[in-house]
Amino acid sequence: MAIKKLGVLGAGTMGAGIAQIGAEAGLQVVLVDIEQKFVDRGLKVITTNWDKAVAKGKITDKDVADYLGRLKTSTNNRDLQDCDLIIEAIIENIEIKKKVFKELGEMCSPATVLASNTSGFSITEIAVASGRPDKVVGMHFFNPVPVMKLVEVIPGAETTEETVAVAMETCRVIGKTAIRAKEAPGFIVNRLLVPYLNDAAHAYQEGVASVEDIDQAMKLGANMPIGPLALCDLVGIDVLLMVAEYFYQEFGDPKFRPALALKQKVRAGHLGIKTGKGFYDYTKK
Ligand code: CAA
Repeated sequence: MAIKKLGVLGAGTMGAGIAQIGAEAGLQVVLVDIEQKFVDRGLKVITTNWDKAVAKGKITDKDVADYLGRLKTSTNNRDLQDCDLIIEAIIENIEIKKKVFKELGEMCSPATVLASNTSGFSITEIAVASGRPDKVVGMHFFNPVPVMKLVEVIPGAETTEETVAVAMETCRVIGKTAIRAKEAPGFIVNRLLVPYLNDAAHAYQEGVASVEDIDQAMKLGANMPIGPLALCDLVGIDVLLMVAEYFYQEFGDPKFRPALALKQKVRAGHLGIKTGKGFYDYTKK
């Protein structure tokens, strides 16, 4: 099935990025969030990216007008009901995701494929909640979505090959490389990346080195494009902590124990770039 209309639920960092590349790829996009202020914030991120691309001469004002013509926003989930594919990118909380998938399953056309951008929760558990588990698949994007080339595609226990094919084909259309992963906590990338980021937070907490030196060490000593603590700030420390806690609970292995430094940042509301403070202070720049 060729996707023409893409629904994106959640206008945060990931949802906005997915909506942006969908519109750029020629799809009709409906971007929905629960409050207008969240929709407006997501739209602002998208239009800022387009303005920068125009300033760099990468796209024209006419391109932006075309993209905007294809991008609709809403605060009503019902506006998603005739989409061919809906990608959920809401808060990383399994109970809230299940509630949302139940609603989508009841409301959408039977042909609609429902995808979750979960960073690592069970697709099967989310799929069962929808009442149409054969039509649910994981599509895991990476931050910043417009830049990162990968999407992990994860079938749940009852996902059909037809549904997987829709996800794979959509990735091709929006210019991403899809890799199929089995359902396991964190899939591929986060299974490897989250323990690394969590270890960097442990190292900082133990006083091994300063934030800046830990980051510099991994950039210069391991050729990482960005240091691990700066990456925590980019991903969102709240997201990272939720994933780390989920791993700790699912694997039962002490190596996944979330660092206190992550918990303290979250308790302080210092979630990274999105709140202006994390391991670094972005309000001073
Ligand atoms: N949105 C859109 N475009 C962005 C962007 C953003 N937030 N940040 C950077 N870019 C674009 C820039 O506009 C620039 O584009 P052009 O080449 O067209 O000019 C390009 O990316 C490079 O940007 P910069 O020169 O400003 O900076 P950089 O070279 O340091 O690259 C980066 C920035 C791509 C983010 C790089 O630091 C990087 O690769 N970081 C690692 C990112 C990563 O590991 N992401 C995965 C996180 S894990 C995850 O997301 C999954 C999960 O479930 C937790």
